Amino acid sequence: MDRIIIRGGKPLSGKLPVSGAKNAALTLLPCALLTDEPVTLRNLPRLADVDSFGHLLNQLGVSTMIEGARPEDFGRVMTLRAGRVTSTVAPYDIVRKMRASILVLGPLLARAGEATVSLPGGCAIGNRPIDLHLKALEAFGAIIEITAGYVKASAPDGGLPGGNYSFPVVSVGATENALMAAVLANGISRLENAAREPEIVDLCRLLVAMGAEIEGIGTDTLIVHGKPRLHGATYAVMPDRIEAGSYACAAAITGGDLELVGASAEDMHAILAGLREAGVHIEEKRGSIRVAADGRLKPLTLSTAPFPAFPTDMQAQFMAMLTLADGASVLTETIFENRYMHVPELARMGADITVNGRTAVVRGVAGLTGAPVMATDLRASMSLVLAGLAAQGETQVNRVYHLDRGYERLEEKLQAVGADIERASDG
Ligand code: EPZ
Repeated sequence: MDRIIIRGGKPLSGKLPVSGAKNAALTLLPCALLTDEPVTLRNLPRLADVDSFGHLLNQLGVSTMIEGARPEDFGRVMTLRAGRVTSTVAPYDIVRKMRASILVLGPLLARAGEATVSLPGGCAIGNRPIDLHLKALEAFGAIIEITAGYVKASAPDGGLPGGNYSFPVVSVGATENALMAAVLANGISRLENAAREPEIVDLCRLLVAMGAEIEGIGTDTLIVHGKPRLHGATYAVMPDRIEAGSYACAAAITGGDLELVGASAEDMHAILAGLREAGVHIEEKRGSIRVAADGRLKPLTLSTAPFPAFPTDMQAQFMAMLTLADGASVLTETIFENRYMHVPELARMGADITVNGRTAVVRGVAGLTGAPVMATDLRASMSLVLAGLAAQGETQVNRVYHLDRGYERLEEKLQAVGADIERASDG
């Protein structure tokens, strides 16, 4: 297993390129199943999860071709062709490693009229059920049964009729599956209390480019006029707002000054507002965002919630940054039930954090000390890297395969702006 070694205490400065968004890519890729024509995705991030999703699509009969990717380039161009869907089964051994595999359920149901997808099971940050995915698809006319750990879904002869569903809880993935099922339904479908994350907007934009008709894009009420078929398209994946936010925290925690090239401020209002409130200088420029530390960080009171509120995927990174603030911060995690596994690892580096249920109190300390730490999930891993960048001494982050799922060429990007960071392999 690889590990990341960081010798901290160096302010970061310079330009850092932001990659295509992981959480957009993982819902754009399965759209290839919705047409027999080629779909070309540009600015696709070079990530383990993107590769895993490509392998799953290959098993379903989708050809995937990477074009024009020079090793030094960030992002890739991939053309996907689902001329014929040769399998409608997403097996357990794939789904258990990458829960986003569940996002083939809606498109397979829409295109092939059936799907057999393993239940994804829980993960480190929570139980993460898929009941809302299934309820939305049933509302659109799907017949769903669960047997032996698999979801077996089928559409009536002639395809899904479409229908209406109001989500009791905002769910990004369930909104995505429902949208991808509705675009080929026979009628009109309406989703209420739908997720509004920028990745949902990216999905809608690709679907419209493929010939879908969707009203209310960007709002919590989506109306889809089903079409008999969709055509191919070429589409560029949106920039990753969570990666950009993570590196913004790197500038803040190291007392640095970074220009995040390619970042889209319109997707990051809550993140940028939090940084500004913490005393960080933010300058929104054309095609980039400048983030510069400006004196000691100020403490914050923050609660995670669905977009446009402060994203749960930035909670761990903000916590790392706030360990050095001038006072006590209060963070509340309302989305996932177990998203504080970075806390004991940060504490080993000298952070002073008390967790009580969904709330964490982070009392600022004068400095952190490098230590060997263990990554447990993707964003927790990034919070440990951020702490290591600020800490005096050496930090070893173990199990960096978590990081490779969501951060394209992390150590290269950080080395280029002055970090003393390297990857070591255990062979
Ligand atoms: C997506 O996960 C993201 N993953 C997550 O990012 C992100 O944290 C999450 O949305 C929230 O923004 C991808 O896009 C691949 P949800 P998803 O359905 O779709 C409950 C990262 O670090 N729920 O919006 O799985 C669920 O338990 C990852 O990049 C149900 O109860 O999240 C949670 O409490 C982590 N039933 C809440 O809703 C369901 O059927 C929000 O989950 C579905 C969800």
